[in-house]
Amino acid sequence: MNPRLSLIARPAPEENPTSEFATAFQLALTSEPRRISPKFFYDAAGCELFDQICALPEYYPTRTELGILQRHAHEMAARIGPGADVIEFGAGVMTKIRLLLHALAEPVRYVPVDIAAEHLQAQANLLAADFPGLEVQPLAADFTQGFALPEATMKPRARIGFFPGSSIGNFAPDDARRFLRAAARTLRGGGMLIGVDLVKEPAVLHAAYNDRQGVTAAFNKNLLVRANRELAADFDLEGFDHYAFYNPVASRIEMHLVSNRPQQVTIETEIFEFAPGQTLHTENSYKYSLSGFEKLARQAGFEPKQVWCDEQEWFSVHWLAAPKDAD
Ligand code: AVJ
Repeated sequence: MNPRLSLIARPAPEENPTSEFATAFQLALTSEPRRISPKFFYDAAGCELFDQICALPEYYPTRTELGILQRHAHEMAARIGPGADVIEFGAGVMTKIRLLLHALAEPVRYVPVDIAAEHLQAQANLLAADFPGLEVQPLAADFTQGFALPEATMKPRARIGFFPGSSIGNFAPDDARRFLRAAARTLRGGGMLIGVDLVKEPAVLHAAYNDRQGVTAAFNKNLLVRANRELAADFDLEGFDHYAFYNPVASRIEMHLVSNRPQQVTIETEIFEFAPGQTLHTENSYKYSLSGFEKLARQAGFEPKQVWCDEQEWFSVHWLAAPKDAD
């Protein structure tokens, strides 16, 4: 047994909510090394902090991708064709999709899929008001798990996946391939427009995840705030440091919460020890080369057809066709 990890039973509390977060968090703290899926960042406060990250001067991905979409939306729309059924994976504030929807010829339906149910409904209502005639069907689901698509009222011509923001970077390459393979099957006869962050100078990457205002640190630590609120944990936020760095061997940013002293944390019925320097690994954000991502997409059954970049080649948006016979 790991000597740094000791579990001491406490009397069970009145209620024992077995939420997905509770189960995942418990598992995270008993695994070695300790790690948890970044999808748990996105409670209401987490969504708010993420939106703030997107506006930070150091966080280049959002504005760079927006620039690419603004410049090339019409070429993208030409690839997609008329009468599209657009499914967005992780819809957030729905800023980027508006650019695409404006450029598309008679889009039939928009299905924003997001794990943050409340955020999703509010954003979908705002978008529906701006696009009369478009069928908007928000779906509160965890897109990393697979989900059933609701029926469309009108018959669309082709199904299109929209996956901006380089959220694909949260998957390890094997999982990304699995996710894309499932998507290629769902999108048969259509395709996927996907934003992918590119490998670049480590200093630029480092700054993007270590902003001067500390918003990314607050976003990372919000996971502990959430555990304190939802799981009745007693994390001392001062006892953990935000630590994000670029790992050039794995081409990924790693985000951690590192204990800065020996401490104990109580979660539900258990006490967990943290040694100084012990980490909870909260996120990976993989960066790709253009050819590296195209290779991955091909392995998943897509046919990469076109890619658009900014001038510095910091970010890319790929159009991947999903062949009719994608299995
Ligand atoms: C939403 C996964 C694309 O990896 O850049 C931003 C999340 N984490 N700052 C990213 C994030 C820290 C973001 N993705």
